[in-house]
Amino acid sequence: MSDGSRASNNVNYLFPLAEKELRAFVHAVNELFGTEQARRSALDWIHEIEVMNWPAGEAIPNWREATVRASARLCSSSSISERHKFMKTQIDKERFGPWALITGASSGIGREFARQVAGSGIHVVLVARRENLLEDLGRELANDFHVRYRLVAADLSLRDSMEGLVERTKNLDIGLVVSNAGTGNPGEFLKIELQTLETLLRLNTLAHLQIAHFFGRKLAQRRQGGLLLVGAMGAETGVPCMANDGAAKAYVHSLGEGLHVELKPLGISVTVLAPGFTDTPVLAKFGFNPQTMLMKPMNADQCVAEGLRALQENRSMIIPGKMNRLMNAVIPASFKRNMTAKTLAKVLANSRSTVCRSC
Ligand SMILES: NC(=O)c1ccc[n+]([C@@H]2O[C@H](COP(=O)([O-])OP(=O)(O)OC[C@H]3O[C@@H](n4cnc5c(N)ncnc54)[C@H](OP(=O)(O)O)[C@@H]3O)[C@@H](O)[C@H]2O)c1
Repeated sequence: MSDGSRASNNVNYLFPLAEKELRAFVHAVNELFGTEQARRSALDWIHEIEVMNWPAGEAIPNWREATVRASARLCSSSSISERHKFMKTQIDKERFGPWALITGASSGIGREFARQVAGSGIHVVLVARRENLLEDLGRELANDFHVRYRLVAADLSLRDSMEGLVERTKNLDIGLVVSNAGTGNPGEFLKIELQTLETLLRLNTLAHLQIAHFFGRKLAQRRQGGLLLVGAMGAETGVPCMANDGAAKAYVHSLGEGLHVELKPLGISVTVLAPGFTDTPVLAKFGFNPQTMLMKPMNADQCVAEGLRALQENRSMIIPGKMNRLMNAVIPASFKRNMTAKTLAKVLANSRSTVCRSC
């Protein structure tokens, strides 16, 4: 049997997803990859998505369990090999030092940025609201990598939050800015208070704008440096149950990709990092359990290593992880939206108490 007909047969099993969209996906994968192994991986992966959408409480037939195990093996083997390759990235201290500013450094991806940047011998300004966590991290980095650190406790959703940042960094020569702080608030759009949506919009857009503008001018004066903005994979296509958050990330992507070209002649590298699911505390806040998620979330160290590598190569945008890049390239937008809506609706139903709260 040819691979093409095996693909069609498998598509016929699939329920409750739209057959037309799955056929388009399989076709796109066949176009993109010539090897039988790649096609098989894609089919395994389709099964995995299907199981994610399987109605709660219904037993999953055995063949499905086998498929999930195969897909999990596929995902973990690809992430293990990628992890070995990307464990940490050293960035050029001469080009991006002597100081770096990292927002959202108290947790998750931002914390890992601080570790990898400090590991490259660059001093760090750590920004977030939870000062005690920043202090612990600063001490740890000074101890491990012999770098200096400075803390800025700031709520970046507040309009005047830049004042503290400007004041606390005025005598530092900053060569790298990682604008990472951000969060989301899954829930039904109409049930979330407008004030909460506005607060998140300020954090997820205005803070990036203010940071890019103020520090962009400083980097332009020294005619060297880097700006890395953290967005989110798939934001441009719309994210049901996180519509405001997705729209804000789409702004970040567009801002960063525009600045990538505009600031290049001034010696500034600008890169957007657009992570997919990444294993940080935000997943639990959203009601996910990283241990039981069928699509294994990526490790923060790999996510950050790929982001820093892309900045060093001055790429405009990086989606970290092979699997994420594959998903982003080949899945039709309407399919992604439906899948996200179903997944988040399930999570929302299971964890009403942990979502839809003001951040
Ligand atoms: N993890 C994922 O699956 C994923 C996927 C796509 C995109 N992202 C993006 O990656 C970035 C980092 O997220 P993460 O996964 O590392 O989440 P996280 O572990 O919750 O970290 C978020 C960071 O942002 C800071 N922050 C949140 N609100 C803030 C505010 N009002 N003012 C200042 N700092 C604030 C937090 O510090 P304080 O609470 O101490 O202020 C924390 O340091 C975010 O922009 C997020 O949207 C994450």
